[in-house]
Amino acid sequence: MAKPCFTKLQVFYHGLLVFVTSLYRDVQNVPPAELYSPLIPQKVLRSYSSLPSPIQYPQWTDQSVGKWDYFVPDTWTSGFFPATLYEMHNRQNLCPENSDAAGPGRDWLDLGRKACDGLVGLPGHNTQGHDVGFLSFAFLEELKINPNNQTAINVVNGFATDLANRFVPGAGVTRSWDSDSDPSRVRVIIDNMMNLELLFVSADLTGNKTLREIAMKHADTTMNNHIRPDGSTWHVVEYDVISGRAVSKHTAQGYSDDSVWARGQAWGIYGFSQMYERTSQERYLATARRLANYFLSNIPEDGIVPWDFKAPLRDPKVPGGVRPADSSAATAGATALLLLASLESDDFQAERWTWGAIRILQKITELAWNPSWESLLSNGTVNWPMNSFLTGIVYGDHYFIKAGNELLRMGLTTC
Ligand SMILES: *[C@@H]1O[C@H](CO)[C@@H](O)[C@H](O)[C@H]1NC(C)=O
Ligand SMILES: *[C@@H]1O[C@H](CO)[C@@H](O)[C@H](O)[C@H]1NC(C)=O
Ligand SMILES: *[C@@H]1O[C@H](CO)[C@@H](O)[C@H](O)[C@H]1NC(C)=O
Repeated sequence: MAKPCFTKLQVFYHGLLVFVTSLYRDVQNVPPAELYSPLIPQKVLRSYSSLPSPIQYPQWTDQSVGKWDYFVPDTWTSGFFPATLYEMHNRQNLCPENSDAAGPGRDWLDLGRKACDGLVGLPGHNTQGHDVGFLSFAFLEELKINPNNQTAINVVNGFATDLANRFVPGAGVTRSWDSDSDPSRVRVIIDNMMNLELLFVSADLTGNKTLREIAMKHADTTMNNHIRPDGSTWHVVEYDVISGRAVSKHTAQGYSDDSVWARGQAWGIYGFSQMYERTSQERYLATARRLANYFLSNIPEDGIVPWDFKAPLRDPKVPGGVRPADSSAATAGATALLLLASLESDDFQAERWTWGAIRILQKITELAWNPSWESLLSNGTVNWPMNSFLTGIVYGDHYFIKAGNELLRMGLTTC
C-alpha cells in the first residue's frame, strides 16, 4: 500500500521541481541577444573574404586587436571555419523571417562549399593523427544537405580510414598522438571522443561495421580509464601497446596532472552524448551525465568557465593577473549540454543541462563578446602551458553559433 503512495509523492515532487526550475529559468535565464546579432554574419563574411590564396584557415587571434592568424590546411583546426559557414546556412533556414540573421542574399552554403576546397586533398595525406574527425565536420554537414555529394562521401570515408588505421587492438583505442619517444606506449587524449562520430557516419555510408566497433571500443576504454570517480577527466592516458594497461595518466594542456582542463571536459560531454545518440547504450548516457554534472557543479559563482577548473584564481603568468577564462570551453560545453538535453530520457535532467547551457552562454557573452575584434568572442585559452591565452578562437566562435542554432531548434528562443 505504501509504495504507490510514495511513488505518487515522488512524482508530485518531481513535477514541482521541474515547474520551479522552469520558472527560475524564465526569470533568470534568457539566451543572450548577441547569439543572433547582425554582427555575426558581418564578421563571418569578412573572415571569409579575408581567406588567403592559396587557401589558409583562421585558428586564433592576437591578444590586442583580435586579428586572425591563418594556418595551412594540414592543421587540426582547419575544418572549423568551413563548418561555421555551414552553420550560417543552417541559421538562415532557422530564421527565414529575419534575413538580417544571415545577411540578405547571401548563399552561405555556396561559401561553405568553396571554403572546403583546401580540405578535399587531406584524407590519406595529412599529419593530423586522430584530429581527422574535427577536419570532417563541414563534410558531415554537407552530407546532411546532399547525401549524394560524392566528394563529401570520399572525404568522409578517407578520413575514417585514416582514423581506423590508428586503432591499436591490444590497447582497445585509436591512437591520438604518435608516441615519438616510446613505441610501447599508446597516447590517448580526451579530445579523441570528438572524432568518433566520423566512424559512425562512414560505417553507415560503407556498411563497414568494423568502424562502429572501433568507435565503441575506443569509447568503452576511455570510459574505463579517462574518468575520475568525481566525474572529472584526465587529459592524457597512456596505454601499453600490448597489454592495454593504463600506464600513465597526466596532462598536456591543463594546469597539472590532477587538474581538470575545461575544454577536455567539454569534449568528453560532447563525445559521450554523441555515442549515446548513435548507439542508444545507457552506459554512454550515464557517462555524459557524470561529466556534465562535474562541469556544471564546478563553474564558479560568477558563471564564467575557467580554462582549467583547478587552476589558481591568481595567475601571475597572464596580463591582469587573474585566472583566464576559456570562451571556447564555454561554448563547446554549452553546445554539448544542449545535445545531452535533447537526448535525455529524464525531464528534470534535461532542464538542468539546458538551464546550465544558457547560463554559461549568458556569462561568457557578458565577458567575451567583442564587437571590435575579427572573432566573435575574446577570452579564449588556446594553450596555457604554451602561453597562448586571451585570444579569439575559431572553434569557440563555431560553437557559439552552433549553440544559437540548437536553442532555435529546441524551440527555446527565437531570432
Ligand atoms: C560537395 O561537397 C564539397 C564539400 O563540402 C564541396 O566542396 C562541393 O562543392 C560539393 N559539390 C557539389 C556539387 O555541391
Ligand atoms: C572495414 O574497415 C576496416 C578499418 O578501416 C578495414 O580494415 C576493413 O578492410 C574494412 N572492411 C571492408 C570489407 O572494407
Ligand atoms: C578577458 O579578457 C580581457 C581582455 O583580454 C582581460 O583583461 C580579462 O582579464 C579576461 N578575463 C578573463 C576572466 O579571462
